[in-house]
Amino acid sequence: MNDSAPLCRLDDIPDGDAIAVQVPSASGGFELILLRQGNAVYAYHNECPHAGRGLDYAPGRFLVRDGRIVCAAHGATFAVASGSCLGGPARGGLVGMPVVVVDGEVRLR
Ligand code: FES
Repeated sequence: MNDSAPLCRLDDIPDGDAIAVQVPSASGGFELILLRQGNAVYAYHNECPHAGRGLDYAPGRFLVRDGRIVCAAHGATFAVASGSCLGGPARGGLVGMPVVVVDGEVRLR
């Protein structure tokens, strides 16, 4: 049982790609990157550990290929499934949020 509001539907995320969603909070909210690989969804804060920029090259549009997401600012590369940094100027990985897919909807766990 999960009472959180859905972030989106699984089908809203193109397979092998990503979208951005806004998550409201008491402190003003934040943006998550939702990455999809088949029926799996991975969520990370849209804030690059290199210089704190969003990873998108245009609002809600990301560079995703072969299980990697590349920060559009300076090219840091992260593993989709773990958020770990694979290369580029970032020293740390992306900060993840646990999500679950229930009845075709993506929700915070
Ligand atoms: S802000 Fe992402 S690589 Fe620099």
